[in-house]
Amino acid sequence: MKTLVIGAAGQLGLAVVARLAREHEVTPATRADVDLRNPRALHAFVLDRRPQAVINCAAFNNVDASEEDQEAALDINAFAVGTLSRATAELGAVLVHFSTDFVFAGTAATPYTEDDLPEPQSVYAQSKLLGEWVAADNPRHYVFRVESLFGGPRTRSSVDRIVDAVRAGEPAPVFVDRVVSPSFVDDVVDACSHVLRTGAAFGVYHCVNSGAATWLDVGREIARLLDRPETALKPISVRDVPLRARRPQYAALSNAKLARAGYPMPSWQDALGRYLNRRYAA
Ligand SMILES: NC(=O)c1ccc[n+]([C@@H]2O[C@H](COP(=O)([O-])OP(=O)(O)OC[C@H]3O[C@@H](n4cnc5c(N)ncnc54)[C@H](OP(=O)(O)O)[C@@H]3O)[C@@H](O)[C@H]2O)c1
Repeated sequence: MKTLVIGAAGQLGLAVVARLAREHEVTPATRADVDLRNPRALHAFVLDRRPQAVINCAAFNNVDASEEDQEAALDINAFAVGTLSRATAELGAVLVHFSTDFVFAGTAATPYTEDDLPEPQSVYAQSKLLGEWVAADNPRHYVFRVESLFGGPRTRSSVDRIVDAVRAGEPAPVFVDRVVSPSFVDDVVDACSHVLRTGAAFGVYHCVNSGAATWLDVGREIARLLDRPETALKPISVRDVPLRARRPQYAALSNAKLARAGYPMPSWQDALGRYLNRRYAA
């Protein structure tokens, strides 16, 4: 499949390019190739390359900065997705787009499903939800909601921050009251490859590793896997860290729909183990 990857220099984009190249004819595109804030250039760029699929890994991901710079958040997370949607529809191509657990309020007690009503609590979350809606302007679309991504070739995720602190024996602050379903980029890319290969029904999918955990749970598993003491973990509450933008506190997602489409995601513990093995393999 002739596949154009937008946002190819980001955490997920780098993994998509590296892993999909095994079975796709991949064209990576970075900011240097096309600016997502220039709709005409973006539209022409996609039409010119005539892909069969566009995978959009680009985003304005700074949740707090989005409260100040709403224009950038909307331009990149929503309007550019509309342009990609339109261009891919004109070509009869598939659009793969990534969204976030942040579209939910975070007040649930069980993992959110794709049928649950989004209630975005921040400008970033609003812009990402709008992006989902305009992605659907191309009927041949997949929107994968991911969260707490880790494992990309660029190590700057929350998981990596905990790993680095635990290894260094430095204090690693971990939330005891934020519940997440982390997403390992390798598993996200493989799920993406699966739906493209099998022609799974178009629509929204929760694409997270199975299970739910507080960041303290994640920290404990990291310490166990690295065979380091848990003493470096510094349990904190969301109340201890006032942030500009509101975040969902309970953000676990159910990936049952993806499993029904033939791709059961491994557990977050299994994913962490594979990531740390890869990162520290002798
Ligand atoms: N990271 C997470 O924990 C997380 C959680 C939930 C959802 N997601 C979603 O998952 C997807 C991938 O996230 P990620 O962590 O891989 O993102 P990332 O590492 O921040 O990468 C985003 C990429 O978008 C590019 N970009 C931003 N503005 C651009 C513009 N105007 N023109 C062209 N390119 C532009 C950036 O280019 P530069 O490299 O040049 O800046 C960067 O390479 C996104 O849709 C994100 O919203 C991520």
